[in-house]
Parts: sequence; C-alpha cells; structure tokens
Amino acid sequence: MASAKMLLDRAYEISKIDNRLYGSFIEHLGRAVYGGIYEPGHPTADANGFRQDVIDLIKELDVPLVRYPGGNFVSGYNWEDGVGPKAQRPKRLELAWKSTETNEFGTNEFMQWAQKANTEVMMAVNLGTRGPDAARNLVEYCNHPGGSHYSDLRREHGFDKPHNVKLWCLGNEMDGPWQMCQKTAVEYGRAAYEAAKMMRWTDPTIEFVAAGSSGLQMPTFGEWEMTVLEHAYDLVDYISIHTYYGNQANNIGAFLAKSTDMDEFIKSVVALCDAVKAKQRKRKQIHLSFDEWNVWFHSNDADRKQDPWQVAPPLLEDAYTFEDALVVGCMLITLLRNADRVKIACLAQLVNVIAPIMTESGGAAWKQTIFYPFLHASLYGRGTALQPVISSPTYTIEYESQVSWWENELGRKKVEARKIPLLESIATVNDATGELTVFAVNKDQQNALDFACELRGFGEYKIVEHIVLEHADLKAANTAQQPDNVRPRTGGDAKMAQGTLKASLPKLSWNVIRLARK
Ligand code: AHR
Repeated sequence: MASAKMLLDRAYEISKIDNRLYGSFIEHLGRAVYGGIYEPGHPTADANGFRQDVIDLIKELDVPLVRYPGGNFVSGYNWEDGVGPKAQRPKRLELAWKSTETNEFGTNEFMQWAQKANTEVMMAVNLGTRGPDAARNLVEYCNHPGGSHYSDLRREHGFDKPHNVKLWCLGNEMDGPWQMCQKTAVEYGRAAYEAAKMMRWTDPTIEFVAAGSSGLQMPTFGEWEMTVLEHAYDLVDYISIHTYYGNQANNIGAFLAKSTDMDEFIKSVVALCDAVKAKQRKRKQIHLSFDEWNVWFHSNDADRKQDPWQVAPPLLEDAYTFEDALVVGCMLITLLRNADRVKIACLAQLVNVIAPIMTESGGAAWKQTIFYPFLHASLYGRGTALQPVISSPTYTIEYESQVSWWENELGRKKVEARKIPLLESIATVNDATGELTVFAVNKDQQNALDFACELRGFGEYKIVEHIVLEHADLKAANTAQQPDNVRPRTGGDAKMAQGTLKASLPKLSWNVIRLARK
C-alpha cells in the first residue's frame, strides 16, 4: 500500500473561508426554474408554487448564496418582463438556450424563494442586449426603499420592503461568441465601469463582480482580464472565473487531474488581477468569484437533439456518476486551497441543470452523487483553511490540457506528461468550536492509501467521524428509482495516535475526517 504524509500546523493558515464559497446558481435554463424550484401543482408546492421537497434539499446543503437569473440567459433578459401581474407578462423567444420564456417567474418570485431557501441573492444584470440604464433601474427597483419610479413600482407589485441585494454581477461571459451582444474587452470594460458607477450611485452599499473571460482557453483570456480591470478596477470588487470539466475520453486518471488545471487557472487570474494592481499602483485587491464551476459533459449530445422554442425543456440534465463526485470533491479542495483569493464560488447549477439536485416534474426530487462532497464541504468546511504540507506518491498522465466543452468544439488539444499526487487534501478549522476537518481524495485506482497527518500545535484531538464515499462502479449514478445507489458511509478507520491522525483511504474515495478537541 502506498503512503502519503501531511503536516498541519495550527499556525499555518491560508485564510478565513468566506461562507459564500458554498454558493450556487439558478439560471432560466431548462428545468432549473420551471419544474425545478417552481412548479405550481406539484404535491409539495406551497402557495407560491415553490417545491418544498427541493427547498428541503437546498437547506440541507446550507447554500449561502444563489446567483440568478443567468448565465447566458441574462444577456438577453428584460427584467421588466418578469415583474408585475403574471397575466400581463410577455412570452419571449429566449435566444441563449433556444427556448420559450414565459416570464411566469421573475425577480420578485426569486427573492421570495431565496428567503424560503434561506439564502442570499447574487443578481446578474444584462450587459448584452441592455446596458447601464436598465441595470441601474433594476438596482432602484430592488434596493431603493420608495419614492421613485422603480421603487414605487416594486411596492405596487406587492413588495413594500426593498430586497436589498448586495452582490451584483456585471453581465456574463461577455467575450464568448455564444453570448448575445458579445463585446470586446474595451467595450465591456467601459460598459461595466459605467454600469457599476450608476448602480453604486443608486445604492452605495453594493458590491460588484466583473465578468472575467469565459475560459482559460479563450483567445481573449488574459488580455481580457487586464483590459477590463484597467477600465473598472476602482469600482469592482471581484472578477469572475468559470470552468467545467468532463471525462469525454473516459480516462479516470486524467479526469481526476482536472483540479490541477483549476488550481493553475485560479493562480493565473490572481496574477492578472495583481498585475493591474501593480501597474495602477493600487492598494485595493481584487478577489475572485468562481461563479460557475462543475462537471458538465454527459448531456451534450442529448441537448443537441432538443427541438427549439419549448418551454422548460430538459437541457443540461447531466446524470452524475460516482467518478464525477470525486472530481467535484477535488474541485472543492482546490477552492479551499485558494480561499485567500477566491471569496465567492457558485456550483453551477443547483437544480436539474448540471445540478446536485434532480427532480421529476410532478414527481420525486433526489440527490445526485455530487450532492455529497458539496454537502460535506458546506457543512464542515467553514472557518479557516489551513495550509497543509503534503508529501504524496504520484501517478503520471498523458494529459490533454484543453478540455472544456467549447474548446473541444474548436478542436484544440495539447498533450503533455504530468505527475499528479495520489493524495488531494486540505483541512479546515472551525474558529468557534475548534473542530478540525480533513478532506481527502485518494486518486489511486488500485490501492488504498496509507494516510498519516501530523497535527502540530492543536492540543489533544479525538476523531468524531470518518465519512467515506466510495463505489465499486465508477459510472454508478443515483436515479429516482435508486436514489441511494451512491451515498456516503461513516465508519472509515481514522484514528489518533500520539498526535498523528492515521487512516487508510480506500482506493478512489472521498474522505471527510472530523476531529474535535478532547
Ligand atoms: O451554466 C451553464 C452556462 O455555462 C451558463 O449559462 C454560461 O454562463 C456558461 O457558459
């Protein structure tokens, strides 16, 4: 059995973890809204049409923030279509996903839903077909108490109190040719700056996320971030970063190595932010909002076969497998490892559309495999991220570094040999209780990994539980009929011996080892 060592010193901290690292995303896309969070007539729906079974699962995940309403959708969205009497709301051709948008659900419904789901809203504005004027009007509608056109309109619509949305995305993936009204970096940088200026004049308390390049392999990447920040540095607080990974090549070793890409991607965007900071001699630091991340590839073929202009068609309905859960676990560890600069992250998305929660319209809701690593990180990964010193055996992969869906479509591939550590791990400590959690993935395909983690400067600790997610079949998934096919178990063999945590991490497994002060 191979062995890996980790050293944790209580004094080696990466950063406090921003709770918003466990955010998610609901877009007007497929069945995320209609048939997902909203389904009047469903047996569990409340008077507003919100599915209680879905809300219960979201509450279990304790999601602190949900991005809305897009995504690509937002770049063609007239927010005014989705407020006021439902009977008067227009049906629109929705060009991002070639669907029909009924507008039965809009801003106010989302605010009500978010309150019930116990989450904050991260609102995106349309900087594609619309611009700064519509954006500042939406801030006035949402956040101004009253006595002006749009705030009084909100009150007429039955919402006396402002929604007080604190976090705003300035458009979405504006360098992508798939985006309605794609922009050059200068065009977008100027629009983002002017929009943010008027939005902040409307409400000085709000924060902004500028749209970063839509991906590392975009020809615009890098230059885009620099140019946008050169225009908008003073007004924005975060820059967005998005990535999705897939196992199209059916190569588990390479798939599990994607978190190494993610780590490099984060460090590249941090470098770009800091280059502009240096060039402009700023003190302020721009942080990262990783507001779209996940595995996404299972549904690509099915989506191409969908007829256009359906209402809420089943799009992006990836049925996640056990191996996807391992990759999501590695991505969560990567986010935690970069918690000093990644302050916001949104698992994209939350329900039905590349999501941890799936539903049948009119029927059941269940947990996909990826629900579990996200649940564990959200529940036990809050507080402070610790800097581990890891010594792990490695495996070698032939590695295609350009792997996202759009990159495949462009036909670009690069092959290199790479050494990947078998152990991917991080630890967090809850500042209030002192509870320590070690998250660890064993990427070894053949053997368990003998894991020894020295705890320095912690005092006496005992094991609370060792949760393990493992499965004999990498392609195992959960379904409405078999919702518990892939689920974690407690009872891993972690133990403490003379200040060292020892555990055997089963081959290809996600492990959560929780410790408390004695
Ligand atoms: O999350 C699905 C889509 O992926 C989003 O609409 C878009 O921003 C990204 O390309």
